[in-house]
Amino acid sequence: MRDTIRFLLGDEVRSISSVSPTRTVLEWLRGEARARGTKEGCAEGDCGACTVVLGEASDEGMVWRAVNACILFLPALDGRQLLTVEHLRGADGALHPVQQAMVAHHGSQCGFCTPGFVMSLFALYHAGTAPNRRAANEALAGNLCRCTGYRPILDAAREACAGVPADRFAASALEIAARLRGLADPEPLEIVAEGVRFVAPRTVAQLADAVLAHPDATILAGGTDVGLWVTKQHRALPTVIAVERVADFARVEERGGVLRIGAGATYEDALAAIERHWPDFARMTRRIGSRQIRNRGTIGGNVANASPIGDTPPALLALDATLVLRRGAAQRRLPAAEFFLGYRKTALAAGEFLEAIEVPLPAAGETFAIYKVSKRFEQDISAVCGAFRLRLHDGNVADIRIGFGGMAAIPKRATATEAALRGRPWTRENVTAAMAVLSDEFAPLTDMRASAAYRARVARNLLLRFWLETTSSAATLVRLPEWESAA
Ligand SMILES: Cc1cc2nc3c(=O)[nH]c(=O)nc-3n(C[C@H](O)[C@H](O)[C@H](O)COP(=O)(O)OP(=O)(O)OC[C@H]3O[C@@H](n4cnc5c(N)ncnc54)[C@H](O)[C@@H]3O)c2cc1C
Ligand code: FES
Ligand code: FES
Repeated sequence: MRDTIRFLLGDEVRSISSVSPTRTVLEWLRGEARARGTKEGCAEGDCGACTVVLGEASDEGMVWRAVNACILFLPALDGRQLLTVEHLRGADGALHPVQQAMVAHHGSQCGFCTPGFVMSLFALYHAGTAPNRRAANEALAGNLCRCTGYRPILDAAREACAGVPADRFAASALEIAARLRGLADPEPLEIVAEGVRFVAPRTVAQLADAVLAHPDATILAGGTDVGLWVTKQHRALPTVIAVERVADFARVEERGGVLRIGAGATYEDALAAIERHWPDFARMTRRIGSRQIRNRGTIGGNVANASPIGDTPPALLALDATLVLRRGAAQRRLPAAEFFLGYRKTALAAGEFLEAIEVPLPAAGETFAIYKVSKRFEQDISAVCGAFRLRLHDGNVADIRIGFGGMAAIPKRATATEAALRGRPWTRENVTAAMAVLSDEFAPLTDMRASAAYRARVARNLLLRFWLETTSSAATLVRLPEWESAA
């Protein structure tokens, strides 16, 4: 066991011990480290003012990802490199290419947001591909500007991030990676400080033992939900068990006709595999939170959190996913539809955790679509999210699965609507009749996101939209909103 967090702050090795393991990186930076370039706007992962970059050793060198420091607990730094806006300038004072482009395009509009924008640009610069407008939007969607606008910043992004990175970080990537490997330790991390016990096991067996020994512990994955329990709800978390260092827990692989997504896989980890089989699911995934959130948030956390408006459960319901649950050495498999029992109540027993999600690969001729309806396009929670999977045979519905979020206290399948459609011709008439069934099947709530009447109407219309999309010719189908085009 080790009780010290070791990481690189820029080039410098730092150790942290005897500090609460639920203290955020932002608090530590602005407090102990006196690095105040990183700002606090919302303290809930929404505005991007606190964006920093986490570097990790990879086979090719380094991978640098933008994350929100305001909801990142300190142990996430262990074995990684933390870069803030203070680290970008060269020893001779020269600005980094992304900073230079911000100056040249008048993108530095206020001192509060600019450091966050610059760090998101730095991560985009190191992605190593010249971004089109959509990719630049996507990388910056987690940095909110309320004063001026995004055009100068997007112009800076497209000028600075033009391809292969050529800064001093790229030049020393192998050396940084070697230094990080030198810091790596196969031992679990266990910190007890300020009333919090934090354990980061390294193997699934250690994780299973820890969860069994502490059934009341908070399991922590990316912390994009749990972080807010601390920063916004000021909840005490006496015992925290982190899954992110568990070997193979983030693995995403295809085997035996299923896509197996380890419960520790982030959205960005899983995106390429999802894209290969369900491009529409991938498109919706890119609208979950922001790049910073998707770099940390996991699909496992989204499922286990059991929010009625989580975005992946409707897809997993429609895709007939199976959840692999583990308690000690015992594993059980549960259909996703049987996991959600009541408002934020799941089928997880005491001492049990989610190990993986298995999604059957699409059968030939199957159509899948998912629609997220929210007030903002990116960085917003759904009012309604509807997922549809259809298999036709000779124009008749051989099978259909419909999953909804935002329509009940749990993510839920529309089984009565499915039954009304199954075996019948896939016609507008039958779909219209099924829309009436759908109205009776759910009694959604009115809340700040939408009224019950709006949700019910949207859900009905999403079914109609799915029918239109599956029956219209490509020439009449307008699918991509203008802001999603690759121009
Ligand atoms: C700014 C912002 C925007 C967001 N936007 C969206 C959005 O658009 N759509 C959306 O659906 N969500 C959104 N979220 C919510 C959040 O990002 C997701 O729910 C995310 O997938 C949670 O994953 P995580 O790894 O961060 O989970 P954590 O916060 O670490 O954990 C979430 C819950 O799951 C439990 N848990 C985690 N892993 C396991 C496991 N292996 N076994 C058992 N229990 C486990 C935790 O104990 C906790 O109860 C947003 C959050 C923020 C802060
Ligand atoms: S302070 Fe707003 S995202 Fe962190
Ligand atoms: S850049 Fe800060 S509000 Fe616009």
